[in-house]
Amino acid sequence: MSIVGSAGKPAVRSGRLSSNVRPHTNTPLQLAPFHSFIQRLSLVSGQVCDSSTLAAAADELKSLALAHDWVAIGFRAAQETEELLYPVAHAGAGMPALYLVSDGVAVRSPPHAHGTWVVIVGISGVEANVIYAPGARRAATPVRTERIGPGETLTLGAEAIHATHVLSAVPTYHLHVYGRPLHELAPFGERTFAVSG
Ligand SMILES: [Fe+2]
Repeated sequence: MSIVGSAGKPAVRSGRLSSNVRPHTNTPLQLAPFHSFIQRLSLVSGQVCDSSTLAAAADELKSLALAHDWVAIGFRAAQETEELLYPVAHAGAGMPALYLVSDGVAVRSPPHAHGTWVVIVGISGVEANVIYAPGARRAATPVRTERIGPGETLTLGAEAIHATHVLSAVPTYHLHVYGRPLHELAPFGERTFAVSG
């Protein structure tokens, strides 16, 4: 199956507007492997996904991610303050969904939760992910920092809290899988935390 450009236009990730640009497909993206990955993941996960399942999913997605030249395919990189989100594959309502994300240089996100599990695979650029422990009154305390560069992965459980910061001098490209589609999550402003400690 050859699906050309059906990943569609980028959308908004965390409340900031992104530009309305469709990928121009110099090289068709073969989406079938990504649909297959998401369908198989939906059969074993749904909203409950243990750490070993997430780790296995991250390994498989890394192989898929690094097998494609996302820029050549036509997914333009984010400019300095942009966060671009390209839907790639999904398994339906309430089921896992895969996105290509590009964050501009120095883009940050505040501490936030998702209410579902997440698998992140780095393709290019480097991003710091600060992991937080929840505290009282919607405050969170930093626990550790994970670096996501090309070929590096991060998995987050449904209750995890993280913040991100692009470290590299070039925009990032990541693949993100969420346990359910982003439009089904609570509004971003309702999932953020103040920093304590
Ligand atoms: Fe996040």
